Amino acid sequence: MKKMRIAPSILSADFADLGQEVRRVICAGADLIHFDVMDANYVPNLSVGPMVLEAIRPHAKAPIDVHLMVRNVDQLVPAFAKAGADIITFHPDAVDHVDRTLSLIRDSGCRAGLALNPATSLHHLDHVMDRLDMILLMSVNPGFGGQSFIPETLRKAQAVRARIDAHVSGKARPIWLEVDGGVKVDNIAAIAAAGVDTFVAGSAVFGARDADGGYHGVMTRLRGALDAVEQQRQAA
Ligand code: DX5
Ligand code: ZN
Repeated sequence: MKKMRIAPSILSADFADLGQEVRRVICAGADLIHFDVMDANYVPNLSVGPMVLEAIRPHAKAPIDVHLMVRNVDQLVPAFAKAGADIITFHPDAVDHVDRTLSLIRDSGCRAGLALNPATSLHHLDHVMDRLDMILLMSVNPGFGGQSFIPETLRKAQAVRARIDAHVSGKARPIWLEVDGGVKVDNIAAIAAAGVDTFVAGSAVFGARDADGGYHGVMTRLRGALDAVEQQRQAA
């Protein structure tokens, strides 16, 4: 797995052609497929569930990163695990017992992540760092693709990066830091410089369907911006 990972969100894909869309973005260099689940309760929108995950699973020769924007997390985890999720991330403010839900995800054989909304405090991370494989910072309010990146996320990402580095030092298990919302070719380098290693991009990737170079073109531009940050780091 690369040091910096790009995870196209299928929320902006052509839903009438999901299997092919997944194949196309993986062929264009996607490292993960980001699968957004919305329940019209925790967030105002409604999207897809385990049956759709199961349908796209054979098309995805990459891990699937399931982002649950739902309240009934415990009830849904087994179905998403069975349908082929590799990572399951949920919002701590959506559940009653965060630690129990993290165990449920790990016991179902998946990696576990916590997602924090723009105004959600980092204190949710305080007593669960040992149980986390990923921390997802929302850089828009959850519920819709195509919104603008909230700049305050950069400072929050720096703070989480410091926590992760302090926590994982000397340990074998990494904790990924993912940012989700409004990630584009022109801001991905700044987000990476803040310490993020996993980048969700929905409209930036799937919106490039008819642009110059299509999905390959946009993925190459995103990757190029990340490579430049990596090179600067190595030179420093
Ligand atoms: C928003 C979702 C995101 C969304 C990102 O609630 O969690 O994953 O698809 O879309 P863009 O990249 O268009 O902001
Ligand atoms: Zn998402």
